[in-house]
Amino acid sequence: MTSQSLAAPASVQLQDFFKRQINYLRISVTDRCDFRCIYCMSEETRFLRRAQILSLEEIAWIAQAFVELGVKKIRITGGEPLMRNNILSLFEQLGRWSDLQELALTTNGSQLTRFAPALYAAGVQRLNISLDTLNAERFQSITRVGKLSKVLEGIAAAQQAGFSKIKLNAVILKQRNHDEVVDLLRFAIQEGLDISFIEEMPLGATDAHNRAQAYYPSEAILRDLQQHFSLSPSTENSGGPARYYRLPAHPNTRVGFISPHSHNFCDTCNRVRLTAEGRLLLCLGQEHSVDLRQLVRTYPGDKVRLQQAIIASMRLKPKGHEFDVRRPAVILRQMNMTGG
Ligand code: 5AD
Ligand code: SF4
Repeated sequence: MTSQSLAAPASVQLQDFFKRQINYLRISVTDRCDFRCIYCMSEETRFLRRAQILSLEEIAWIAQAFVELGVKKIRITGGEPLMRNNILSLFEQLGRWSDLQELALTTNGSQLTRFAPALYAAGVQRLNISLDTLNAERFQSITRVGKLSKVLEGIAAAQQAGFSKIKLNAVILKQRNHDEVVDLLRFAIQEGLDISFIEEMPLGATDAHNRAQAYYPSEAILRDLQQHFSLSPSTENSGGPARYYRLPAHPNTRVGFISPHSHNFCDTCNRVRLTAEGRLLLCLGQEHSVDLRQLVRTYPGDKVRLQQAIIASMRLKPKGHEFDVRRPAVILRQMNMTGG
């Protein structure tokens, strides 16, 4: 594979109004998914039309503009990214950029038996795989349509392909899977994977359950795990909402807690998000955004204008989010529109 420098002048960096450096871009490449997780979508979610979403060329063009402005890490999310036609070509293109230090993928794992070797060869370094339960019936009830065995095979395929940085993401809901946190951690340890436990975020309206009732706080998960494991807090900070713990007895597994409600992580936020429609979102928990799709379609090939718009957008990045499980969702986007 030939690597290609995008030659960013060292002086160019994205900084927001609160002096946070933005060096991490998350890109949702589709709102479609082969699952219908109860906390993410309603059963009859309607998907975007082809013309509404960015083409792969437009995505690469915008990604390149960001990398030239100092972005070092890109994560591809969805929906389920591997559902998008020809998605490998995007990974192959991004994997050639030597200025990009990390290329990562968030996936539900259902297609990994097919894709893992090619993703690895393209230069994807990190995989986050969603896994909320190890019980096949529960898996089907949470995802509405997913098959646990397929995902477990996908995880194995990723390990076999050579991925060493795999993290499981488990959204924990009271009365659905909160009694499985110990088993999930045991599985992660057995497989030598990291795992993050995620509190449900109030994004979009879901019809399947009451969010305030399903809320199971990170503190409760930690307490449950401490009955069985010794965990020591780690100072690691990924610039995101996770707090990490280490297991002295199991050095290959880190445990993260993602708690949008109970923890304020906004001060060190280093990221922005590009939606499948080409909206640049400055904060997961707020609606501040800039329409980059309109810009790239009105001025195709005009990189200066695109980069000026990106730099100007930094002023819109809010100081923090405003999630509250007790209130109805103020953010109407669903996670499949936003990309984790
Ligand atoms: N709250 C928390 N996590 C969510 N995810 C999807 N919707 C929500 C939500 N409302 C998770 C998925 C996946 C990651 C991309 O986001 O389970 O692990
Ligand atoms: Fe698909 Fe992920 Fe949403 Fe589940 S949470 S429906 S796997 S995008």
